[in-house]
Amino acid sequence: MVSIIHSRGDKSLRQLVDLEKGLVSREIYVNEAIYQQELEQVFARAWLFIGHESQVPKMGDFVVSRMGEEEVILVRDRKNQLHVFLNTCRHRGMKFCRYDDGNTLVFTCPFHGWSYDTDGRLVGVPYFEASYRGVLDKSQFGLAEVAQMCNFYGSIWATWDKKAPPFEDYLGPYASTVQRCFQSSAGEDNGVELFNPANKWRIPTNWKFPGFSFDGDSAHGAMTHRSINVAAIGPQGEAEGSGGSRHGVSAPFPSTGYEMCIPELGHGGHNPIFELPGAAPYADTWQTVPGVDDYYRKTRELKQEKYKDEYLHGGSCLVWPNVNIQPQRILIWHPHGVGVTESWRQYPVDRDAPKLVKDAQRRYMMRYGGPCGLTESDDMENWNYAFPASLGTIAQRLPYNFQNGVGFAHTDERVPGMTLNYRIAEENQRARLNRWLDFMEAGSWDELYPINQAAYPKSANGSNGHK
Ligand code: FES
Ligand SMILES: [Fe+2]
Repeated sequence: MVSIIHSRGDKSLRQLVDLEKGLVSREIYVNEAIYQQELEQVFARAWLFIGHESQVPKMGDFVVSRMGEEEVILVRDRKNQLHVFLNTCRHRGMKFCRYDDGNTLVFTCPFHGWSYDTDGRLVGVPYFEASYRGVLDKSQFGLAEVAQMCNFYGSIWATWDKKAPPFEDYLGPYASTVQRCFQSSAGEDNGVELFNPANKWRIPTNWKFPGFSFDGDSAHGAMTHRSINVAAIGPQGEAEGSGGSRHGVSAPFPSTGYEMCIPELGHGGHNPIFELPGAAPYADTWQTVPGVDDYYRKTRELKQEKYKDEYLHGGSCLVWPNVNIQPQRILIWHPHGVGVTESWRQYPVDRDAPKLVKDAQRRYMMRYGGPCGLTESDDMENWNYAFPASLGTIAQRLPYNFQNGVGFAHTDERVPGMTLNYRIAEENQRARLNRWLDFMEAGSWDELYPINQAAYPKSANGSNGHK
């Protein structure tokens, strides 16, 4: 156990976060010392989303990403191996790569010219013979590489901690959900590519406001998004009440929606449990773009055939700590100071879809999400005002309320390992807070995992095992 931050009133973190009562001190969202502890104990330990192999298809391709506050490079080397390196020169710290993406044989630092191969080796040092006299152990000054990297059905994840468990174990029962988010609409594994470039913008709030509430705060939708629910921004181009909304259309399929999470691991999402096997029928959604529905109807038929005997539980989840994975959206909140968050959005689309479909999907995502998307404009107002309104002396005396659904969590044998609550509750946010406490208190991964591995049955077949 490492030392716990002692904050105002000498309270330990467990006194600040009371999950039984559902009351949480605002301090954990605004305190600079707690934030610094998060960078060390959450972001330098957890598995973090880096990107997707489709962003770097050829040898020498690279794209920048982030882990916590720090920039990293995802690169494909000459032997076709992927690497994730910290974007800092081993000579005197310069950001050696100044581009968001590209293709290169070597990275040459713009400061003094040290050069690194795409596998991270230091291969060029100016004046190596003349002034170093050939005495410099280049093997000790290669690029800093993550401790572990995982290519999970095309998505790339990494951690700085060599003791972190394998990524699939880190996901536990959510592994099959994340796997499916990277399937094509026909249900083929690793069937998507990401639109480039990512949307990136900074918002003036603590990363936990969006990070902990996403896929865990359905209560806000009816109020916060009231205006755009009638504004016809959905792919069908019709307002709510005329059969449309800001979302796609779903065909009737017997199911019950839940907040579903794994408090011990911190992951959770809004997921339906279907009462029938197979994938739901397709409902025409893209009336404004002829041809798109033809494509998605056909791929849905293929998916229905593939899963005709399996019970799926669907959808999306927030992978602890800061990325929400959905079939067509990836939302990442990088910490960038206690009161600044860098939001990144990346959008998967079927890799083999025709241009017509990709264009329609891209345009819909641009009007839905990202810095100018109407849905996220609504969300940003809440997060950006809640942070400064929590800073004041008097405001600090008032805890946040996370009591929605306290005491009503339950399990369901159809989704082993999961904790369920009503579809609009705050169970998923409490799950994140629970995992946050564990990370902030634990001295190493030895104390974090497995808490009780036997409780987390894995599913290898893309479903939750419900037959
Ligand atoms: S800092 Fe990169 S070569 Fe000097
Ligand atoms: Fe929202």
